Amino acid sequence: MARKVIMDVDTGSDDAVAIMAAMLSPDIDLKAICTVWGNLDIEHTTDNTLRLVDAMGGDIPVYKGCHTAMVKYLVDDRVPQKRRIALDADGNEIRMHEPELKIPKTDRKPEDMHAVLFYIDYLKNAQEPVTLVAVGPLTNLGHALRIAPEITKNIEEIVIMGGGDKEANITINAEANIWHDPEAAQIILDSGAKVVWVPLDATHAACLTLDDCKKFREINTFPSNFAADLTEGRIAVHNVTQPLDVPNAAAVHDALAVCYVIDPTVLVDLKPVRCFIGLKDLTEGETIIDRREGIIEPNCYFAFSGDRFKFSDMLCEIFKLGKQL
Ligand code: RIB
Ligand code: CA
Repeated sequence: MARKVIMDVDTGSDDAVAIMAAMLSPDIDLKAICTVWGNLDIEHTTDNTLRLVDAMGGDIPVYKGCHTAMVKYLVDDRVPQKRRIALDADGNEIRMHEPELKIPKTDRKPEDMHAVLFYIDYLKNAQEPVTLVAVGPLTNLGHALRIAPEITKNIEEIVIMGGGDKEANITINAEANIWHDPEAAQIILDSGAKVVWVPLDATHAACLTLDDCKKFREINTFPSNFAADLTEGRIAVHNVTQPLDVPNAAAVHDALAVCYVIDPTVLVDLKPVRCFIGLKDLTEGETIIDRREGIIEPNCYFAFSGDRFKFSDMLCEIFKLGKQL
């Protein structure tokens, strides 16, 4: 039976690939999408999400969520570090996340209820457990779990794209989603819900290449072509700012989290660990794994690698189910 899923997104190029995969997969019953700020401001992440739902011809409700972190930006010295600027061969700036996805505008509007209130209402009343796939800063869930901790009873698992053991991307120790709202991430870890981390170690290993993009284009559906466009854009930026071990490749982080829900074996070395979130100075936003033997109880699962061939094959199969062009 298809798993009931709610996504939390900051759309975003890789979020867009993830949303398309979740909307199409017969193994996922996507109940709602909540938006949060992160890659872009909340107006853009919400508008991009609405456009994509429209372009996919779906009717998934979209709930607009938080525009900033729970605590962090109240403190001046926790402001962002310098953004890395990537330039193409002609000296033009290229971005991982353009402010607007290159798909038509939409009249579709978000639901009236705020995303935090939606989580509380939906999860209090759910008849069956729901899997949450959170691929942006964790602010919406942090607030929901603070206000109504009892909602964990209806959470099957919280799959988080974020963090890293050996990898980082926004500071020397932190990954962007967790660094944007570290307190929210710690609240989730403390909530008692089952947490599965899909960190940079997994998403970099399970990268997509230009060859994968070629395969997407051969499928020639709206989602396969759009995923190829987005992935090629990401490869161009990775090549300048953060080349991966595999040449001409990009992490399409958020889609890996969705594929885990469909087939957990796409994650490699998924292990129970004890993790906590750094909240200060150089550890801020770091997913710190406690490796002391014999004295620690695991509190989550952490994927130390990913299977890039399985990931690409899964996306190809899923995108074949999209609108033919
Ligand atoms: O660090 C990668 C994550 O940050 C992805 O979820 C990307 O979309 C951004 O939110
Ligand atoms: Ca994201």
